[in-house]
Amino acid sequence: MDFAALSEWVNLAIRWLHLITGIAWIGASFYFIALDNQLDPPADKNPLVRGEQWAIHGGGFYYKRKYLLAPEKLPEKLHWFKWEAYWTWISGFALFVLIYWGQASSYLIDPTVMPLTPWQAIGISAAMLVGGWVAYDLVCRSKLGENEALLGVIGAVALAVVAYVSCQIFSGRGAFLQVGAMTGTIMVANVAMVIIPGQRKMVAAMSAGATPDPKYGRWGKQRSVHNTYLTLPVIFIMISPHYPMTWQHPLNWLILLVIGLAGALVRQFFVLRQKGQNALWLPAGAVAAMVAAFFIVQSGKQDYASAEVPPFTEVQAIVAARCANCHAAKPSFEGIAVAPKGVIMETPAQIRRWSASMRQQVQTEAMPPGNMTEITAEERAKLIAWVAAGAPLD
Ligand code: HEC
Repeated sequence: MDFAALSEWVNLAIRWLHLITGIAWIGASFYFIALDNQLDPPADKNPLVRGEQWAIHGGGFYYKRKYLLAPEKLPEKLHWFKWEAYWTWISGFALFVLIYWGQASSYLIDPTVMPLTPWQAIGISAAMLVGGWVAYDLVCRSKLGENEALLGVIGAVALAVVAYVSCQIFSGRGAFLQVGAMTGTIMVANVAMVIIPGQRKMVAAMSAGATPDPKYGRWGKQRSVHNTYLTLPVIFIMISPHYPMTWQHPLNWLILLVIGLAGALVRQFFVLRQKGQNALWLPAGAVAAMVAAFFIVQSGKQDYASAEVPPFTEVQAIVAARCANCHAAKPSFEGIAVAPKGVIMETPAQIRRWSASMRQQVQTEAMPPGNMTEITAEERAKLIAWVAAGAPLD
């Protein structure tokens, strides 16, 4: 049995599931936020109804109403939205365990940031996942939780601290995913531990012929608003492994926050737009944040530009010593069974073919991972100069 190959298939299956359930969850959650924001006063002036909306979709007309606290009587069939959220977390956590805990030395640990053993890194990561939710939940339930604006400020500061701390403990890529996993865990726990139990209590009260306590509705709404602003930053984190320039940088925590802010601003724009306001400064602010992130990244860049263009034989020797242990048809590096991402750099043609991404990976210092093959700054400069000169093979 080829376990490395099997693990790639498991990775694919879980990642696919994670995307599918994530899309279903976020889709439903964005839909209901939009619906809430677009409700009109009920035409029949029913005092129990907070608002209603007529819509057309998929060739049919829909008539939806939201009841302030509860309808006159409990309907026989009630649709609940929860498995989308639960499966997003189950699949996401499985993926996190498979990659960042299972291969901690490659993905979670960077000895130049903090020389942790895999078990130490996993322990800290797990403690932060649990601790993040417990702390967030306590603050939301405390007196502070009653002041939405104050809570927002505390949340933003806490997120900044978590991002900073993670980046001082884990590899850049691992730190980003750690923050994403913590945020995603909070979002799903909001559904599992607050929104759904509250709805259960509301339904139970109605079944017993009583009026549900309005606090459950209020709490559920609060958590669902938090979730909506966290969604886009988390999606950025989930795609960030493709963009080493964001996390392989001394100020990676700041870049994470600035791009996260861009996501929250975009979300706020849509929320306000659904309420009939066109706050164009919000997407403008998001673009400004992305431009700021770009300049932060450029400012910290190592200057490799000055090297002379080396002859190809030298390039090939560097790649053979520093890269091809992993990036070969039959990798010699322990624990690497197949060429990562299908990138094989053995023959001149192969090295040339991958030269553009090689430059990106070498410049951002994403490769070699954790600099396991100890490439020198001088060798990086040579590779970059060679690619910049058009990757000549002579
Ligand atoms: C210790 C093994 C190892 C070494 C050495 C190594 N790599 Fe990689 N490389 C990987 C792994 C693992 C990935 C996949 C990372 C991921 O999952 O995103 C990868 C991915 C890549 C990619 C594809 C990136 C993408 O996401 O498209 C390129 C290009 C690359 N490496 C170039 C290099 C270069 C150039 C060197 C030498 C300077 C190098 N690698 C050294 C393990 C290694």
